[in-house]
Amino acid sequence: MPLAIEHIRRMRGGAQSHLMRCEDENYYVVKFQNNPQGTRILANELLGTRLAARIGLAVAASSVVEVRPEMVTLTEDLVVQLGRGRVPCTPGLQFGSQYPGDPATTSVYDFLPDEQLREVENLADFVGVLAFDKWTCNTNGRQAIFLRVRDSERYRAVMIDHGFCFNAGEWNFPDAPLRGIYARARVYDGVRGWDAFEPWLARIEQRITEDVLDEIAREIPPEWYNFDQEALYRMMEQLLRRRKLVRELILSAKNSTRLPFPNWT
Ligand SMILES: Nc1ncnc2c1ncn2[C@@H]1O[C@H](COP(=O)(O)OP(=O)(O)O)[C@@H](O)[C@H]1O
Ligand SMILES: [Mg+2]
Repeated sequence: MPLAIEHIRRMRGGAQSHLMRCEDENYYVVKFQNNPQGTRILANELLGTRLAARIGLAVAASSVVEVRPEMVTLTEDLVVQLGRGRVPCTPGLQFGSQYPGDPATTSVYDFLPDEQLREVENLADFVGVLAFDKWTCNTNGRQAIFLRVRDSERYRAVMIDHGFCFNAGEWNFPDAPLRGIYARARVYDGVRGWDAFEPWLARIEQRITEDVLDEIAREIPPEWYNFDQEALYRMMEQLLRRRKLVRELILSAKNSTRLPFPNWT
């Protein structure tokens, strides 16, 4: 497991994550156990990212990252800001989302204007990740980062931020029609019918088994869910059952007032 050896900078966002360099020579965006959104979002990140990868979505590589107490003590910036107060980040095992490359030379973008969105080579992943977000009931807006494809005008989208899958710390599934829809409708221009979703629905049903969930669960440090294994398994059981629900959830998005798929007629 990578050990954090250098603090680079604070990142934007509600979880107050930090960009850190690790001993494996990779950089990670690290979310801490005592982040303001709750400890369980670390478990959600690991489970969500692994599941998304299993169904073939472009996600950032991720890992459990160790941050030693000395690192926190010696780094003034490693604090969580709460109202007017601040507390040190909890040392120990944290969630790390790997930065794709060296941050000094590789730019990533949180948003692309519509014009550039057309140049994203894997736009179909937004269709797949909608099926995924419906399945996992991601109660936060869909988030992706964009990278320039080497020597071209094109971009590649990488899905990030799975902290609010399974409804954040609640571990329940309050489904709603517009939940999970990406803020820029353009990414769904290619959707003309069920065909766009079928491969993703099939992968969710076929590739995600009890064994797969078990395997991922064993990777999650138990302190990320307060050692409540029963709650974790209850949530994962629901997840298995919900595989069959995704189609219906997509249909209610399609029929919603916002008409997210203008070319699906
Ligand atoms: N793997 C990654 N590579 C590069 N940047 C990332 C990565 N993961 C997150 N970020 C950046 O860090 C910010 C915060 O991460 P995010 O997962 O969205 O946390 P939050 O839960 O606080 O919103 C993102 O807006 C993005 O700019
Ligand atoms: Mg975010």
